[in-house]
Amino acid sequence: MQQHDCSPLSDYIEYPSAEMLTRSLDFYDEVKRRHSVRSFSDRPVDKEVIENCLRAAGTAPSGANHQPWHFVAVNSPDIKKKIREQAEIHERGFYQGRAGEEWLGALKDLGTDANKPYLEHAPWLIAIFSQKKGGTAEEDKKTNYYVHESVGIATGILITALHNAGLATLTHTPKPMSFLNQVCQRGDNERAYMLLIAGYPSKDATVPAHAQVKKSLDDIATFL
Ligand SMILES: Cc1cc2nc3c(=O)[nH]c(=O)nc-3n(C[C@H](O)[C@H](O)[C@H](O)COP(=O)(O)O)c2cc1C
Repeated sequence: MQQHDCSPLSDYIEYPSAEMLTRSLDFYDEVKRRHSVRSFSDRPVDKEVIENCLRAAGTAPSGANHQPWHFVAVNSPDIKKKIREQAEIHERGFYQGRAGEEWLGALKDLGTDANKPYLEHAPWLIAIFSQKKGGTAEEDKKTNYYVHESVGIATGILITALHNAGLATLTHTPKPMSFLNQVCQRGDNERAYMLLIAGYPSKDATVPAHAQVKKSLDDIATFL
């Protein structure tokens, strides 16, 4: 290995094999209770919880550790209203035909449509932006590597952290999402990547049967 500044791996924890097995199963049991929810209560959620979940997302691995992401956590009713208005305009075009027959067919079993009341009901909307240029310092303008992959991993950790905290989430991707740059005041270097909705589920929240069908381990994994 090349000479570089480093310190000993001091926070690694090794678990006895039985505990490792239990932990792996416990985590699976925990994450399989995560569902995309499309009906939220307006019950407030502490900003500190969102901050901690974002800190967790910020620990994600990333190409050259450039951390090419920015999260805009929106709690302001005015900004949520703007996001809903813009998202619904785009979604109407999408559901009225821009998506094409095949895509609309694939969405049928989820029961989604152009109405997105949860964008105003939920206490938090988290707009996730990917950065074309960056580096470890905020002001850096270096090339970022594996941006899509890195932001995807950070988003996965964020969804899991929110779920772990006891919040329901929805991954939302209004198409196109570029209006988020303007509403969230993010510059040209950033591209809207995803919008996460987070909060308590409403009492009548449901989970589509289609979404509960997960491929078996045999289908998703091969051991060689
Ligand atoms: C990249 C991505 C984009 C998505 N976009 C939307 C969306 O715009 N609207 C929506 O209602 N659900 C959206 N979803 C949620 C999926 O429909 C949901 O994850 C899928 O049906 C499986 O359900 P589950 O999340 O409960 O496991 C999206 C999910 C992903 C990963």
